[in-house]
Amino acid sequence: MKIVLGPALQELGEKISQLTSIPIVSVASKTFPDGENYVRLEGTVQDEHVAIVQTTCAPQDSRLMQLAFMAAAAKRNKARKVTAVVPYLAYARQDKIFLQGENASIETVVYMLKASGVDALVTVNIHAENALSNFPFPAKTLSAIPFLAEYFMQKGCKKAFALAPDKGAMYIAEQARSVLGGEAGHLEKQRDRYTGQTSQTAKHLDVKGKAVIIFDDIISTGGTIVGAAKILREQGAAHIYTACVHGLLIGDAEKRILDAGVEEIVATDSVPSHVSKVSLAPLIAKALKALESG
Ligand code: R5P
Repeated sequence: MKIVLGPALQELGEKISQLTSIPIVSVASKTFPDGENYVRLEGTVQDEHVAIVQTTCAPQDSRLMQLAFMAAAAKRNKARKVTAVVPYLAYARQDKIFLQGENASIETVVYMLKASGVDALVTVNIHAENALSNFPFPAKTLSAIPFLAEYFMQKGCKKAFALAPDKGAMYIAEQARSVLGGEAGHLEKQRDRYTGQTSQTAKHLDVKGKAVIIFDDIISTGGTIVGAAKILREQGAAHIYTACVHGLLIGDAEKRILDAGVEEIVATDSVPSHVSKVSLAPLIAKALKALESG
């Protein structure tokens, strides 16, 4: 196996290579003056199973094109198999038709990747796992939640309350609870399908005087976490933290979350930033070792 270091996630790719001893194929990349992308594999891949490590946070369309180009280049250079390792998979939230006339965007994305030469895909905490069953190749999603919960254990947050901001994220809160050893619960979230605006409903949670960690797959504008923090403050939580796998943190999301009384934001390096305090390298390294020997 060889790791192709996608331009969007070089540091993580290097860490995975160090942990697995899987050699790296570096990639030269550039953007032309008109915005078009260019990539060139700088090593041989003939007869190899290659794992292309590339994330697809903003600018997501550009990074998806880079991924497609790397897969096609690998196949053109006679790679035996191409596995796309895409910790943050763009467009995964539009995984079904919510309103008539829409497209299931993630299906278009994965069919494009398939046409480019991708044979299998590994991602991390995809928004809805059942979307994988419509992918045109074998795909799996790993969970980084135990690693995020472990970060808070190291910080002394044993038995902190694990809160999911909506029912769909309850599986995430449950995974965190099994590490933290405290309780778990969820709020109710409603979304207007036309405006995208969300609102959350308060329900009684046993959080008075407790440390609470709000766990979610993605923090984008921060609205979900700000709404949850408001409810937690009203219900007397002593400390509020938040952890997500994919910290997109669009615009002033970080400031809004901190202003809402959240003491710390923690994310993984699926979207590299200063809140990427937990690395996915051990999780992905283990998955690649299993693929290599499988
Ligand atoms: C959607 O249900 C996701 O799980 C996240 O809760 C959502 O993407 C967060 O978005 P925002 O930070 O804009 O509220």
